Amino acid sequence: MRSLRLFAAVVPLFPTVVLAQSRPHVHIVATGGTIASTNYYSGRAGKIGVDVLLKAVPQLDSIAILSAQQFANIASSGITPTNWLALSRTISDTLRAHNDLAGIVVTHGTDTMEETAYFLDLTIKDPRPVVVTGAMRPADGIGIDGPANLYNAVRVAGASSARDRGTMILLNDEILAARDATKSNAVRPNAFTAPYRGDLGLAEPENIVFHRAPGRRAVFDISAVHELPRVDIAYSYVGADGSDIDAFVAAGAKGIVVAATGRGSVPPLQRQAVERAIAKGVIVVVGTRTGSGTVPVGAGARGSASTPSTIGTGDLNPQKARVLLMLALTKTSDSREIAKIFQANQ
Ligand code: SIN
Repeated sequence: MRSLRLFAAVVPLFPTVVLAQSRPHVHIVATGGTIASTNYYSGRAGKIGVDVLLKAVPQLDSIAILSAQQFANIASSGITPTNWLALSRTISDTLRAHNDLAGIVVTHGTDTMEETAYFLDLTIKDPRPVVVTGAMRPADGIGIDGPANLYNAVRVAGASSARDRGTMILLNDEILAARDATKSNAVRPNAFTAPYRGDLGLAEPENIVFHRAPGRRAVFDISAVHELPRVDIAYSYVGADGSDIDAFVAAGAKGIVVAATGRGSVPPLQRQAVERAIAKGVIVVVGTRTGSGTVPVGAGARGSASTPSTIGTGDLNPQKARVLLMLALTKTSDSREIAKIFQANQ
């Protein structure tokens, strides 16, 4: 008999005794995305709940004892920083309350999955794995990837070898560190890559294989954080005049990440806007728009290690650097301290 129990939002989980079994206990937190969508290309997309999602993969019964909750059912472009705080707390609270849980699976739209996953990675202290998965093809599509991704995500979340690896992304059998993974194709099922560091491991048919440990990370305590500071991303391009940066500052940005050209080169007029922002106390972090490679943390695009005018992202892509900067700004607005935080997360 299937051992799924579905809970709405944050209600007391596992109210009944779970019989001792050898299958690991995995909890699913569903947030929406294409994996939970139908009629995706019709302009009138439908949604399916986590109960329907799990019923489509009856094989899950043989590998895990499942419980589930519908946290949200939205496209991931609609996820907000407030959702991140609530999702992270929900997962931490669930893990804290249930020692018998092996791990958590989060289903999520792929568009902003890498940002949510990295936020969870930076805010969940528990050693048990959190595996974020989704699908590139809708639930009623042909040759769909959602069921296989969900199945493999549950396998990874239930694997003891997945402990102490933080939050991971699983699609297309590939296990990627939340910190390193990025959506690098808008359509194909193998959309996620970790261009600079490579994958963490694979969900092979026989077993879960890890090739390496994830990089260093500092976990932030968000228990007293009710709102994340505003951080925007400015894109560099030929002729960029910095009006985006001036507008972000006027809108109240406490930090700005520049997706700069090459190894952190910012066009002259945009660079002047960076200097204006820094003069107003805004922290500016400079990364690369190239999709891979590093901008050294210590000196950023200009300045020196002792007086950094900007901070480099290291090998974090701009959207990951934004997540880290938002969290760093909950602790300090001192640019040297923030540079240390970026260094500690390389
Ligand atoms: C979304 O991110 O919600 C839509 C795209 C997807 O899930 O693949």
